[in-house]
Amino acid sequence: MAAQSPNTGVLIRPAKVEDAPAIYALLATFSTEGKLLPRPVADIQARIANFLVAEMDGSIAACGALRDFGNNLNEIRSLAVRRDLAGQGIGSHLVKALLEKALERTGGGHGHVFALTYRVAFFQRLGFRIVDKYTFPPKIWSDCSVCPKKDHCDETAVVIDIPVPDEPVKEV
Ligand SMILES: CC(C)(COP(=O)(O)OP(=O)(O)OC[C@H]1O[C@@H](n2cnc3c(N)ncnc32)[C@H](O)[C@@H]1OP(=O)(O)O)[C@@H](O)C(=O)NCCC(=O)NCCS
Repeated sequence: MAAQSPNTGVLIRPAKVEDAPAIYALLATFSTEGKLLPRPVADIQARIANFLVAEMDGSIAACGALRDFGNNLNEIRSLAVRRDLAGQGIGSHLVKALLEKALERTGGGHGHVFALTYRVAFFQRLGFRIVDKYTFPPKIWSDCSVCPKKDHCDETAVVIDIPVPDEPVKEV
């Protein structure tokens, strides 16, 4: 799966193992500020099949991963766009591509995609709705042990049904 964005000219494609150092570097620019969970390069390499990247002029402009929790429940995580490219629609395009990837995983069925985020309006504009994060199965908290905010998580859970209903984009 690869798709050229009509607005930005970036190519959204599955990540390759050799992209891992660039993905690590991009995520680190936000994890050092507490905006994303830190991820070691080895972890990114081990789970590279979960990642999509946005490539621009041969380098990684953005990345995002889709973690499969079974029962057609997937999480969007490690979503990051280079700061100098923010606000151009790349993040939205990447989320839509991740939703397509999640839909492929259902094999034509129905499912849900969630995210834990500080960027609630960004996800709401894409059709996600806010939910109580504690409605998700306990296994989704497995990665939180490395989070400095593990005992006082202040992120908001958002979720969307897949396939995404054919609705107009929401104004928030
Ligand atoms: C959150 C993030 C992924 C968004 O990526 P992005 O490429 O800037 O996203 P978009 O451009 O699609 O949308 C961002 C904003 O620009 C606006 N926008 C969208 N397309 C636009 C365009 N063509 N021109 C100008 N603005 C645009 C959107 O309305 C949106 O507004 P919002 O900030 O109020 O939500 C990015 O800012 C990021 O990496 N943040 C740090 C890490 C993080 O918080 N990740 C999310 C963890 S779940």
